[in-house]
Amino acid sequence: MMKTRIIGTGSCLPKAVVTNDDLAKIMDTSDEWISSRTGIKKRHLAKEETTASMSVEAAKRALDNAGMTAEEIDLIILGTVSADYVTPACACEVQAALGAKNAVAFDVNAACSGFMFALNIANAYIQAGLYRTALILGAETLSKIVDWNDRSTCVLFGDGAGAAVVRGDEQYGLLAFDQGSDGTKGDVLACLGRTNNNPLIETDQETAYVHMDGQEVYKFAVTTVPASLQKTIEAAGLTPEDIDYYALHQANIRIIQSVSKRLHISEDKFPISLDHCGNISAASVPILLDEMNRGGLLKPGTKIAMSGFGGGLTWASAVLEW
Ligand code: ACO
Repeated sequence: MMKTRIIGTGSCLPKAVVTNDDLAKIMDTSDEWISSRTGIKKRHLAKEETTASMSVEAAKRALDNAGMTAEEIDLIILGTVSADYVTPACACEVQAALGAKNAVAFDVNAACSGFMFALNIANAYIQAGLYRTALILGAETLSKIVDWNDRSTCVLFGDGAGAAVVRGDEQYGLLAFDQGSDGTKGDVLACLGRTNNNPLIETDQETAYVHMDGQEVYKFAVTTVPASLQKTIEAAGLTPEDIDYYALHQANIRIIQSVSKRLHISEDKFPISLDHCGNISAASVPILLDEMNRGGLLKPGTKIAMSGFGGGLTWASAVLEW
């Protein structure tokens, strides 16, 4: 049976880098507080970059890495909660900029699980024989939706985009997938959109920003992620020891350490990017994958377990052979 294989990766971070010490100059925080609780040292923040411009750059790099042209792409799926427009979808902007005229393009909103949901949707299309080659992305400009007066959230997030080209392959690729949602806990990580505004009512809505109950998110992550990974690894016919690398959503070093403990797997198998780019929601997993790929960690057959988790609440894991 055809497997969905990642054949190229790319990423793009904004030029401007903001360290914890830089933040300490403009708000009541410290490198000590942020580093010790999260592992984050710095993040990139968008000035002239947009969610679409970073997506396009990441996509070009992924196509180049895959040795493919934009015309060969049948499908573009982009995970984001911070697109530049309500419509058109960011995926359509990417399609236009690349000249991917044979692709169908749309966005998915699954917060920090967005790239993983995109991967699974592409996989379902490829398995069904509807499309052969897909460009999947996770891209965010979170800095425009976080409250820069709320030190408990704004220090956690960054901006960036990651992309991967996937294609049906006889030998290597996706072995198993797990995904889930729990809408009853949506309020622990939320950002209100526009409220009703029409001639029937008076509205004076203030701009709404990301609101998070950090401890509830933490509890959710450290229970759901190991369970989802276990289930996916087992479905792939493997054990946690068989996995070469765990590529997890980069929310917080403590969450990653807890997952490593619960699975009884050394932290060395959990590559990190949050130290230099913070939490970039849907973009975290594909940026990490690109860093692993370009860092030479991934060879044909290397076994990777990936997991995204966050707002919705949503979560998704995959096991694949590179
Ligand atoms: N700098 C200095 N002090 C701060 C800061 C800051 N940036 N932010 C909060 N504080 C203070 C608080 O005001 C509080 O002070 P008080 O005790 O005087 O009231 C104190 O630090 C402790 O605050 P808590 O919110 O209890 O801190 P906690 O130890 O829970 O750590 C954190 C917060 C790091 C967010 C933690 O809850 C966590 O790791 N949560 C996981 C959630 C997460 O990573 N979310 C990311 C987005 S979701 C996702 O991607 C899945």
